[in-house]
Amino acid sequence: MDLDIKAKRAIVGGASQGIGYAIARLLAADGVQVAMVARRSEPLDQAVARIHNETGTRTLAIPADIRKASDCERIVDTAAEAFGGIDFLVNNDGAPPLGLIAEFDDVAWDKAVQQNLMSVVRLSRHAIPHMKAAGGGRIVNITALSAIQPIARFGLSVATWAGVIGFAKTLSLEVAADNITVNTICPGRIATGRLAKVFGPDAGKGAPAADAASDADAKLAADLAKQIPLGRVGQPDEIAGLVALLLSGYGGYITGSTMHVDGGRLAGLL
Ligand SMILES: NC(=O)c1ccc[n+]([C@@H]2O[C@H](COP(=O)([O-])OP(=O)(O)OC[C@H]3O[C@@H](n4cnc5c(N)ncnc54)[C@H](OP(=O)(O)O)[C@@H]3O)[C@@H](O)[C@H]2O)c1
Repeated sequence: MDLDIKAKRAIVGGASQGIGYAIARLLAADGVQVAMVARRSEPLDQAVARIHNETGTRTLAIPADIRKASDCERIVDTAAEAFGGIDFLVNNDGAPPLGLIAEFDDVAWDKAVQQNLMSVVRLSRHAIPHMKAAGGGRIVNITALSAIQPIARFGLSVATWAGVIGFAKTLSLEVAADNITVNTICPGRIATGRLAKVFGPDAGKGAPAADAASDADAKLAADLAKQIPLGRVGQPDEIAGLVALLLSGYGGYITGSTMHVDGGRLAGLL
């Protein structure tokens, strides 16, 4: 299927590894120029070079911390200047720590709000004028299944991403007339380095995030698979594929939607 998104211009957050990397790679393979964001320069530069070498498409590294207001502005300005505009914004990044929701102090809450909610608010606000100038655009937010089916100890993410879902739905109403769509994807358990960080034996202790396929990761994926109707964890490409569809003309009539991609794990009708 030709998605007909060649030469469009995208910003993809958290793109040095995991889900963001898979999104950037798939978009670049379809000819989209991609500005890739992460904090650590070295893995980001390597990811950018790998995708460029593989696809031949223009890719750009923007090292930045999306928790900072000034970095959000710089991300959009840098991408718009390099590419001559912005058509797509994919908000995807790390997440705040796990723990009992009532025990986090104001500092932890503030960091979580900056990371999960304000980054989406700021990046969208800065990107929308460029999308309007281009005659339309697409915003896709990556949150988590826990935002619609909360899990104990995930409270910082649940609360802030619930805010993102409310923001996205409202924004979708306000920018529809400008031919800009806004949607939110809620992944279930996806095979990235983050799985071990969140569900592994050392969960919460800051285990390194990397796309490793170690025996421990394979065992963890097998254990998690038992709780998933499709009997396996998802692959990053299975999130990236939906993102690409939403960005393409085939996704043009979808806006204000919240979609779970979870192997059937959501315990509900919608
Ligand atoms: N994997 C899953 O099972 C799963 C399930 C549901 C939801 N999700 C959500 O989907 C998103 C991506 O998950 P993933 O598994 O791909 O995570 P990951 O492998 O840990 O990758 C996270 C990416 O975000 C970047 N990042 C983190 N904090 C950042 C910040 N403050 N500013 C800029 N970049 C930042 C990281 O690079 P640096 O560290 O260099 O900044 C990295 O590129 C996360 O929000 C996660 O919570 C994941």
